[in-house]
Amino acid sequence: MNFQKITKLLLPAVTGVFFAGSCIGQDQPGKGLKDYYRSLFPIGVAVSPRALQGNEGQFIVTQFNSLTPENDMKMGVIHPKEDEYDFRKADAIVDFAVRNRMKMRGHTLCWHNQVAGWMFTDKKGDTVSKEILLQRLKEHITTVVTRYKGKIYAWDVVNEAISDKKDEFYRNSAWLRICGPGFIEKAFQWAHAADPEAVLFYNDYNEINPVKRGKIIRMIKELRGKGVPVQAVGLQGHWAINEPTTEQLENTFADFAALKLPLQITELDISVYPKEHEARTRSAGDNDTSFTSERENAQAAQYRAVFEIFRKYKASLTGVTFWNVSDRHSWLDDFPVRGRKDYPLLFDRDFQPKKAFKEVVSF
Ligand code: GLA
Repeated sequence: MNFQKITKLLLPAVTGVFFAGSCIGQDQPGKGLKDYYRSLFPIGVAVSPRALQGNEGQFIVTQFNSLTPENDMKMGVIHPKEDEYDFRKADAIVDFAVRNRMKMRGHTLCWHNQVAGWMFTDKKGDTVSKEILLQRLKEHITTVVTRYKGKIYAWDVVNEAISDKKDEFYRNSAWLRICGPGFIEKAFQWAHAADPEAVLFYNDYNEINPVKRGKIIRMIKELRGKGVPVQAVGLQGHWAINEPTTEQLENTFADFAALKLPLQITELDISVYPKEHEARTRSAGDNDTSFTSERENAQAAQYRAVFEIFRKYKASLTGVTFWNVSDRHSWLDDFPVRGRKDYPLLFDRDFQPKKAFKEVVSF
């Protein structure tokens, strides 16, 4: 990256003349996204420690008041070997949040992806027993949650345990195959024991699908019925210009709000391509990856629509977190189509606010 260029591009944001030329900026210099929503809910962003350095770090502090580590608290990163934790990157993010008085979410204590292979196998490479795996999970959760006690206010305890398949309830993961669904309640109990003050989330995607949503809600009700401390629901919110429809999102919020638990949008982005749920190879139809005005307008309209619903449900919603800072980098550049550039966020590759930003803050 050309540092001088990025310095030049980011400087206006830092000095408060962020929206030079637009009426918003002239009226309210230095006002960031979080400030428009201050009385409603915190606005967060998923980051790596690298994004927190220098001017990008300053930009983040101006725009957001909550952080989530994009990758650095996932099991595989923070606990690469049985006897080895690597807290360096996670610590850097937590320190930044504390220093800048930002909220800090933990992500994630138990997931089927981005977990090191040792977790499920013994020294010979054989699959471990349920007892051993649960003991490892307990040790992992207790160590990580205890380390950040008092600094992380909310944890995504279990991520994506529900199946996308219509006729299957739980996801067929190594956790499920070895432990049965009991690992879910254990994870919440151990997290609660390590930090009774932290708000414990169940987090999942495609919650706009009524079948999957029904399963998530049923699981949460059953767990709570047994006294398991599932205290809040995270809706990831990896969406696109054509999905969810307003009706789908309204129904989603209405159903989850009926649980009377805090809700958060934990991983928001809105792809400029029509939604596809499965990864696929790139084809000729993917050649035009430019940010056309048609894509820009469709995205701005979708951002407007979803934030209208977020504001409507402000009594239930306790946070909205974007998955990455700007269109300079997003995981959607490689998903569902590897190497297809996407533009899913509110700031462009030069960290300038897009049309979508204006729609989100005009209310
Ligand atoms: C899921 C996970 C996130 C992230 C995204 C893709 O939503 O919860 O941590 O890995 O997939 O980037």
